[in-house]
Amino acid sequence: MLAKRFSDLKPYVPGEQPRDRAYVKLNANENPYPPSEAVRDAISRFDADALRFYPDPDASELRDALASMLGHGVTRDMIFAGNGSDEVLSFVFYAFFDSDRPLRFPEHTYSFYPVYAGYYGITVEKAPLASDWSVDLEALASGDSTGLIFPNPNAPTGIYVGLDRVRSLLDSYPSDRVVVVDEAYIDFGGETALSLLSEYPNLVIIRTFSKSFCFAGARLGFAVANPPLIEALFTVKNSFNHFPVDALTQKIGAAACGDAPYYRRINAEIAQTRDRFAAGLRGAGWEVLPSLANFVFARKRPHSGRRVYERAREAGFLIRHFDYPGISDFVRISVGLPADMERLSAVLTGL
Ligand SMILES: Cc1ncc(COP(=O)(O)O)c(C=O)c1O
Repeated sequence: MLAKRFSDLKPYVPGEQPRDRAYVKLNANENPYPPSEAVRDAISRFDADALRFYPDPDASELRDALASMLGHGVTRDMIFAGNGSDEVLSFVFYAFFDSDRPLRFPEHTYSFYPVYAGYYGITVEKAPLASDWSVDLEALASGDSTGLIFPNPNAPTGIYVGLDRVRSLLDSYPSDRVVVVDEAYIDFGGETALSLLSEYPNLVIIRTFSKSFCFAGARLGFAVANPPLIEALFTVKNSFNHFPVDALTQKIGAAACGDAPYYRRINAEIAQTRDRFAAGLRGAGWEVLPSLANFVFARKRPHSGRRVYERAREAGFLIRHFDYPGISDFVRISVGLPADMERLSAVLTGL
């Protein structure tokens, strides 16, 4: 009954969402703070009658608000919004990557990339990480490829590579093939590559509202690139779903853009909590990779990642363990509220 192409599909497995008891949820890199007041206001002012109508297919008000928040010369025609950055990534894969050459991405990275590649029949090649676990951009750009994608900071390591190195990568790579920098975690300490857009016509930057903007539940992500690439994304979207961002989400996304100081403040707090938490673990003999994201990737030898995950779960904390070769002794821990991280630190340093 199922189409033949279905048999090879290997879906993405998200962080678990158990309902059996109240856990402190530190397994999906969600933000522990609420969205800003402007978002609350926009929700309470939203006129339910307006739901009779389809939303603006171009999300113009939202894209204008994003453009003024982002700066760096970004204009509305350089922005494409979608139903979470996962959907935006799906459109990016479809629009820019061919199946005649492999798409290259780091060996350990966001595990949705191989899933989309499989979905669209794009072959992949994984570039090994450097010995310090950072993304090796030279290795990434080597060989013939249809395009490149990597998160900066990378997931699940949290390691950020500097803009000078991103610039060298772009200089060394053919300008008619797309390089995607997924900046899902950029607001927790890294420097955005937006300033490079004026020089590199093949650069696509992906952002999400799920992490630094505190609404993973509303589903909003966007791509920033030069207008010809954005037009291509609109063509793909309009061949699939004309209205990927609903009316309420367009409104609250635009409202959030006006509250940048609030988001800067809470994300700086998260960065401080992260650094305190990492220092505590290191002091107890853990290896913690240097993260500029809202999570840390850490291990305590000789414990397996599964053992650490289970100990945290018994204590009421959900963290993430990836049973993949090379990283199975690590756990990824999202940064939550300071008090929760102190309690978790006490559990883990006792291991
Ligand atoms: C690197 C990276 N990109 C994109 C996403 C997807 O985010 P969303 O679809 O919630 O916008 C995630 C989510 O964890 C991620 O880690």
